[in-house]
Amino acid sequence: MMQKGLLLNGKSVAAHVKERVAQQVHELNKKGIYPTLSVILVGDDPASAVYVRNKARASEKLGIRSETIRLDAATRETDLLDIIRSLNENDQTHGILVQLPLPKHINTDTIINAIHPDKDVDCFHPRNVGLLMLGQPYLLPCTPAGIVEILKHYQIDPSGKHTVILGRSNIVGKPLANMLVQKAPYANATVTVAHSRTQNIDALCRNADILVAALGVPEFVKADMVREGAVVIDVGINRVEDATSEKDYRLTGDVAFEAVKQKAAAITPVPGGVGPMTIAMLMQNTVVAAQHVSGLA
Ligand code: GUN
Repeated sequence: MMQKGLLLNGKSVAAHVKERVAQQVHELNKKGIYPTLSVILVGDDPASAVYVRNKARASEKLGIRSETIRLDAATRETDLLDIIRSLNENDQTHGILVQLPLPKHINTDTIINAIHPDKDVDCFHPRNVGLLMLGQPYLLPCTPAGIVEILKHYQIDPSGKHTVILGRSNIVGKPLANMLVQKAPYANATVTVAHSRTQNIDALCRNADILVAALGVPEFVKADMVREGAVVIDVGINRVEDATSEKDYRLTGDVAFEAVKQKAAAITPVPGGVGPMTIAMLMQNTVVAAQHVSGLA
């Protein structure tokens, strides 16, 4: 890729995906199936509230039914488990998403394990993570799948390329590494996962053909850490103080965008890059789950 600083427009790729999903919803509706997503929000973390609202809005636009169950921050783990169990058994709902992070008194692993794997639209359940690792995926993890969808759209094939992923979270770093290392189209990458204990991380980043920043540190990736012509994917959504902004904060990624753009062949902006893709893939997963739960998959 010779061009410099190509903007990878996640918003427009997400629009394509959503168009496809809306069509699939329409087909299901004709069979009397109404894809439905149940979202649970515990507590009042402001960022989580925004994400949950965006999920409900996106569902509505695509004809996916959604319900948001808002619970008090003091909700007991056993009560949350009861709600999940009743959603597991409810034939009218196909996808269950518990917004993370949860309050400290609730064990996240216990909650994730309680979600029926067929309805696990986040792909967080151990069964689905295991299937992904084996190369037999059922649902795909939303953010990693969104990143791969962007690469596909722009025909950036990671095959044989050194892909460096910064961050080892269960939501992005680990599942993305898993997807990209598979023997499959738009995978076959040579993957390095770097994290807070990685030595010589700057040199490692300079060695990347594709660099994915998913560590949650504002503008961690500087221009001198990026090889000329690399592809840079920024997963970060950080709120940083900004007195000049109406909201007193602005959103910034994990990449120093303006400087890195000068060196990268292609780069995702924040906002408008990976973020919109995550929601689009969640909508896709809800439809896949509806097909599966209804015996159509
Ligand atoms: N919190 C941040 N990202 C996510 C996500 O992808 N799914 C859920 N459930 N919670 C999150």
